[in-house]
Amino acid sequence: MSFNPLKIGELTAKIPIIQGGMGVGVSLHRLAGAVAKKGGIGILSTAQIGYQRSDFEQDTMRENLLAIKEQFEKAKRIAKNGIIGFNVMVAQFGYERIIKCCTEVGADVIISGAGLPVNLPELVRGSKIKIAPILSSSKGTKVLLKTWAKRYHRTADFVVIEGPLAGGHLGFKYEEIKTATDNMDEEVKRIVEITYEYANLFNIDIPVIFAGGVYTKGDIKHYLSLGCSGVQMATRFVGTVECDAPEDFKNRYLNASINDVEIIKSPVGMPGRAIKNHFSSMIKTQKIPIKKCRNCLSTKLCNRKNIPFCISEALLNAVTHHTEDALLFAGANVYRVNEITTVKDIINELMQ
Ligand SMILES: Cc1cc2nc3c(=O)[nH]c(=O)nc-3n(C[C@H](O)[C@H](O)[C@H](O)COP(=O)(O)O)c2cc1C
Repeated sequence: MSFNPLKIGELTAKIPIIQGGMGVGVSLHRLAGAVAKKGGIGILSTAQIGYQRSDFEQDTMRENLLAIKEQFEKAKRIAKNGIIGFNVMVAQFGYERIIKCCTEVGADVIISGAGLPVNLPELVRGSKIKIAPILSSSKGTKVLLKTWAKRYHRTADFVVIEGPLAGGHLGFKYEEIKTATDNMDEEVKRIVEITYEYANLFNIDIPVIFAGGVYTKGDIKHYLSLGCSGVQMATRFVGTVECDAPEDFKNRYLNASINDVEIIKSPVGMPGRAIKNHFSSMIKTQKIPIKKCRNCLSTKLCNRKNIPFCISEALLNAVTHHTEDALLFAGANVYRVNEITTVKDIINELMQ
């Protein structure tokens, strides 16, 4: 079986695979460029994207905005006619400026989650950039698409559904994760139905993309059979030479067993899936003093005095310091990553 290309308006990805944005520093130009070169959609994570720039500590926002342009251009150089976009978290400080910057550099798509991207259409108005919310429930889908239709007379160019097996922040309450895992297929069908309504209303197609625990060709077929047009994969792409994370980070993936994954409580106010280590056990019992605030989250979300640890610091440490003292986000399937291969080999295996 060969898969249909993924069409998003006038954009066509030869293969229906989006590489999920991974912050901090896990999906930058090398990974996104390699996936786009193979016909998928490569996504750069904007979370502290400028961390490798020399003035990052002095002027974090400015360096992050400069890095958006730099990383995008480098990814486009790898994948000449490939589709490259950005993942921007609603919770990120300076969300509006970041979205505008991604639009100005000429990105093809923006995928936005970790909160409902209610004002995203307003921020990209007048551009051709394609926008997608990340949603985890039919309720959230209804609310968002209804709001966009009412306020902005438009709908989503595509929708990413993120299920409970994903890595990083999850759109479920801690106590909902088990039930959501059992019921996700039904929820996917309901979300697809809702998107049909809005697709008809605006006379466009709204491809639905499933993310969270997608690993094999069989998984892709499964989600296509539920009405999706493609999948978003992240964890599997960490096990590649192109993944932008350092070797130490990738080795943690290679060594993780099925029991090495746990759900942590993030200061963002959402649970997150991560690999167990010294850091994840420490945050259960103590507050980790914040060395430096880089204003990564909107002030509404982050109460600097009371948070148990700094999410930026914890994720930055994963790519700059020792991986025992860092938060190592990973999907539930991390135990299946047993070798470092290439993006080309993974995509060939999935598409053959
Ligand atoms: C290391 C890592 C970092 C992530 N960072 C982000 C992020 O910054 N923003 C976001 O929306 N999703 C993030 N995610 C979620 C992925 O984009 C993706 O949707 C999800 O992990 C898909 O599930 P999979 O990893 O099982 O393929 C992250 C996932 C991982 C594994």
